[in-house]
Amino acid sequence: MQNLKIINLKKIGSSSLGYITVAEELNNIPFEIKRVYWTYFTPNEVQRGGHAHKNLEQVIFAVSGIIEFTTEDIRGNKKTFVLDSPERGLYIPKQIWRDIKFSHNAVLLCLASEHYVEGDYIRDYNDFLKLKND
Ligand code: TYD
Repeated sequence: MQNLKIINLKKIGSSSLGYITVAEELNNIPFEIKRVYWTYFTPNEVQRGGHAHKNLEQVIFAVSGIIEFTTEDIRGNKKTFVLDSPERGLYIPKQIWRDIKFSHNAVLLCLASEHYVEGDYIRDYNDFLKLKND
């Protein structure tokens, strides 16, 4: 498994013609993609996320608008990532706590390594802190 990081995909095209960006599993996405979801119309003042995953890996894009991630790993390292361009992805390995803020027009696209399993979520921050000792 790779570390939490920005993955910059290719931006094919030009300002006069427009652009295309392509994600391919096990090529520029470091896992097999089992699920794709997107979120939209999130009001400015709402903070989403507030969880970590036990096993899930994700690559997340702001295909429109601006999305800000605040992350924390199990050692307590905190980072902020701003997704402000459709070719800029955030790779999130398992066991990363994240809080997410959106600009009004933001559309978040997530490529995920597993199907949806509610039991994979860690939604209680104290449970997340306990992972350190596991
Ligand atoms: P959640 O992952 O908590 O959203 P966010 O991180 O954006 O705040 O999911 C919100 C709701 O959507 C929750 O009730 C679970 C449901 N959901 C699914 O049913 N399937 C999915 O693949 C996802 C990602 C969420």
